[in-house]
Amino acid sequence: MSRPTRTPLSDSLKQLVGRPATAIDTPALVVDLDAMQRNLSRMAEFCRKHAIRWRPHAKMHKSAAIARLQVQAGAVGVCVQKTAEAEAMADGGVMDVYISNEVVAPQKLARVAHLAHRLASEGGQLAIAVDSRVGIERLAQAMNDARRAGREGAAPAVIDVFVEIDVGQGRCGVPPGRAAVDLVHEIRKHPALRFAGLQAYHGKAQHIRSAVERRETIARAAQDAALTCRQIEAEGIPVGLITGAGTGSLVAEAASGVYGELQAGSFLFMDADYAQNERDPAQPQFEHALFVKTQVMSSGAEHAVCDAGHKSHAIDSGLPKVHAFDGPHELDYANGGDEHGILRPAAPGVKVPEIGRVLWLIPGHCDPTVNLHDHMVGVKGGLLEGRVDRIIRVDARGALT
Ligand SMILES: Cc1ncc(COP(=O)(O)O)c(C=O)c1O
Repeated sequence: MSRPTRTPLSDSLKQLVGRPATAIDTPALVVDLDAMQRNLSRMAEFCRKHAIRWRPHAKMHKSAAIARLQVQAGAVGVCVQKTAEAEAMADGGVMDVYISNEVVAPQKLARVAHLAHRLASEGGQLAIAVDSRVGIERLAQAMNDARRAGREGAAPAVIDVFVEIDVGQGRCGVPPGRAAVDLVHEIRKHPALRFAGLQAYHGKAQHIRSAVERRETIARAAQDAALTCRQIEAEGIPVGLITGAGTGSLVAEAASGVYGELQAGSFLFMDADYAQNERDPAQPQFEHALFVKTQVMSSGAEHAVCDAGHKSHAIDSGLPKVHAFDGPHELDYANGGDEHGILRPAAPGVKVPEIGRVLWLIPGHCDPTVNLHDHMVGVKGGLLEGRVDRIIRVDARGALT
């Protein structure tokens, strides 16, 4: 098994359920379940209003329990980025999974094919992105091998395949136009592969701060996707779906008339980096729902030190912000290393926090922060007054293959 085996939840964790949030030891990754539910409902409502499919990215929360909540709220399934994440979702009962990424290593493709057959036999579906002829040939080979290795008489599984086009991110994907059409023809040579549509995700657009510039960037991406779609259809091949979008740009894809599915993931937890985007007035109001609970372990004249460093939260998109609740922003967080955070007053007159003071950090980037933890503590009724409602396992923690 290539995925790490999960250790059972400890008794002390299980006993936390029902207790006040004040009982959560630090540092801990905490989900404000009420805020998460509001984000979920707003997103579901937005997609209903725009009559657009919704397939949230589960690489963000890595939890099958949360993925199932999203499906209950109207998502068609989830996206993942890694084969091992897809396996974790399927193990947790999520039946419709799209690997929105290229997989080319034969040993991984054998797992992809096995999972495609497994999900198909349980009434589910696996899909994957491709951007090369070699990737398509290897995928077809793996699907055929898995079929031969499977039970005689079992229905042949088909995997949905999306051709990824590079609409400006400069990451994976073939250029829009002819190169994509050629890959569609390659896919159609293999009975175990079904051409399902195009992936046109623009990652760089997500963090453009100006709302107008984000819209303009996605308008160009949509044009590229539409042009590619027309070229494929001109050869008599229907393009079932164009999929893409993240939390920063989703209003633009939804309004484009080109995209049929939104892949946004971070909206559910909303990190500090996304909070710096100028909000598009058409975008639902998403709230911070993911926090690192920390407490002050040392305090001096100029600064205090808390027990959450960058083993508790990822710092690739900047340091965490100290949550101010409804009051003014009082403290700045500075890097103190792996295990420590330095806290300084953010304004004149603010006191250095005393030993034992509890603080709630909003991580700079939610996805890699979640990946640092085995579980998240779900709280209802507010971070200060609320109670622990459940422990959410990070099923796909470390699922990198
Ligand atoms: C292919 C793809 N789709 C969707 C997303 C979701 O973006 P976000 O979590 O920023 O909403 C990502 C994020 O990196 C991605 O790589």
